[in-house]
Formats: sequence, structure tokens, C-alpha cells
Amino acid sequence: MSAGLSDVIQSAGPRYRTATEFVEATLREAILSGVIAPGTPLRQEELATSFKVSRMPIREALRQLEAQALVDFEPHRGAVVVQITLLDAMDNYAIRAALEPQALRLSIPNLTEEDFEIAEDLLAEIDHEQDPGRMGELNRRFHMTLYAQAGLPRLIALTEQHLASADRYLRFHLAAVGGDMGQDEHREMLAACRIGDVERAVATLARHHGRATDAMRAFFSARDGARE
Ligand code: NI
Repeated sequence: MSAGLSDVIQSAGPRYRTATEFVEATLREAILSGVIAPGTPLRQEELATSFKVSRMPIREALRQLEAQALVDFEPHRGAVVVQITLLDAMDNYAIRAALEPQALRLSIPNLTEEDFEIAEDLLAEIDHEQDPGRMGELNRRFHMTLYAQAGLPRLIALTEQHLASADRYLRFHLAAVGGDMGQDEHREMLAACRIGDVERAVATLARHHGRATDAMRAFFSARDGARE
């Protein structure tokens, strides 16, 4: 097992209630931060030894990571860290670009002063956050706060699901945009929501998605070009 992963295990230990939770969160962090590279096989016996737990929580954690699209089970190889490609990222961005404007449009007329304050606080937190995983979570919460009053539970659930699966690309996304989470667009979107300007809010969101998509495309073509 890589030295990187044992460091992550060392620092993660006591925060978790169950062995499964500990293994799942630690592996998730190691995958998202790039400590474990895409394509790496995750062998259950090795992980059980590294984590000093039995194989049951390892198996369960790997299943949970599979559900989050971070791990694939391949025939004859077992669990493998997913290979993230530009196509995967573009697929996710296209789904989000279809769902999120619709959720935002329906939600704006129902947003309250309390929602605006929550959104404002989340933006202030993003400004001061350094940890990429935490930035991703705050970004998701900010967006979901603005979509949450859409009144259509399945649309909201689907939107949240695809926003959450974008965490897989977070490391690439931050590298692509040089750590800029699009806070100017977030603020512009929030200001438009406050005054009930649906068209401006939706247009700003489209720009937010478009900029991220362009940055990812450029990042991957540079990365994949450099490998050839
Ligand atoms: Ni955002």
C-alpha cells in the first residue's frame, strides 16, 4: 500500500463512529485528492491490513464508493479506482446544465430572506476555505440552497445527485480553474435571486457552467496531450 494512503489513514483515525465509515471516508478522501491514482486496484486483504479492520467493513466501504462512482468492480480484478475522463466530466456537466437552470427558475419565486442569508454565509465560508473537499461541499450547499425551493422533489433529488457526483472531478476542476470557484458568478447569481430577476440568475448560472466546462476541456486536453 502506498505511503500516501498510510499517512491519510494515520491522520483520519478517531473521527469516525464505525469502521465502515472510517474506511469509506478515508478512501474517498485519498481518491479525490489523488493520493490513490485512477486505475489502482483496491485489494481487500491489503486494505484490511492497512486499516487494521476486518474485511467486512472494507467490502461495505467499497460498495459505497462504487455507488458514488469512485470505484468500479472489474471482472477478475475486483475493485479499481475509476479512471476519470473528459467524456465522464462532460457528461456530468451536460446533465447539470440541463437540470440546474430549471431548478433555479422554479425555486427563485419561493426563496426567503433566510435562504439568502444561508447562501451569503456559505459564500463567505468558501472565501476562507483552503481544503478542496470542503470547498466542493460548500459549493454544493450554496447551489442547493438556491434550488431547494423548486417544489419538485424528484427534480431536486436528481439535481443534488448529479451535483454530488461532480465531486469526482473536483480536483481536476480546481486545477483547471486555478482554484477559483467562480465566486463572482455565485455573488451575481445570489444578487439576481434576491431581486427576483430569474432571467439574469439563470444566465449567470449558464455562464458559471460554461466557464467550468471550458476550463475542464482545456485542462484535460493539456493533460492527455502531455501523455502522448
Ligand atoms: Ni458553483
